[in-house]
Amino acid sequence: MIAFMTANPVSVNSTPSLISPEIGFASTSPANPPLKIGVLASGSGSNFEVIAEAIKKGQLNVQIPVLIYNNPEAKAAARAEKYGIPSILLNHRDCKTREELDTKIVKTFQEYDVEWVVMAGWMRIVTQVLLDAFHDKVINIHPSLLPSFPGIRAVEQALAAKVKITGCTVHIAHLEVDSGPISMQAAVPILPDDTAETLHARIQVQEHKIMLGAIALIAESHQKHCD
Ligand code: GRF
Repeated sequence: MIAFMTANPVSVNSTPSLISPEIGFASTSPANPPLKIGVLASGSGSNFEVIAEAIKKGQLNVQIPVLIYNNPEAKAAARAEKYGIPSILLNHRDCKTREELDTKIVKTFQEYDVEWVVMAGWMRIVTQVLLDAFHDKVINIHPSLLPSFPGIRAVEQALAAKVKITGCTVHIAHLEVDSGPISMQAAVPILPDDTAETLHARIQVQEHKIMLGAIALIAESHQKHCD
């Protein structure tokens, strides 16, 4: 079992956060082709933007050929435009079943040669259609220390349970909601006067770190396969 490491502590409002495994960015060889990740987002898209910014800064040997969003109001689309990344609206309301939406997603990602899928705030339950097309190559980010508090309103669930520490998780997505092997987690202490909003804001700071850390691990392993 991997213990929480304190080598990379992050302080927000004087409360330390612990990330495991430790985040380290491997040096990337530009000779190798970048890993192509397709991103799924439903809302604000802050996790999407953190990835796009890290790519722009040359911190990840990764490319985002396309962003798919399902909600016409999603701010993620405007963020994609800022980075010159194509974005495509696949509205779930136009699909009769979850499988129909996932079939459209798979077709789009295959058209853009996507190799891995990143669910960055994707508020739809995924089906075997997506998971079969990208077998064990779909990651999800969730605002709790899974397996605690899966499903919706994870931050509120943690507050209601009166736990003292919660956090966030990046994991390989399996069929059951918010299940699958865990790639990276960060712990976030709950403060006595926390509301769902203040706690979620501190969790998101950590989400952005573990999202980049997990993608860096995937890109590093992809690069080894190319060498
Ligand atoms: C994050 O808290 C993520 O864990 C959850 O949805 C939120 C998305 O945030 N699945 P953003 O759209 O990336 O800002």
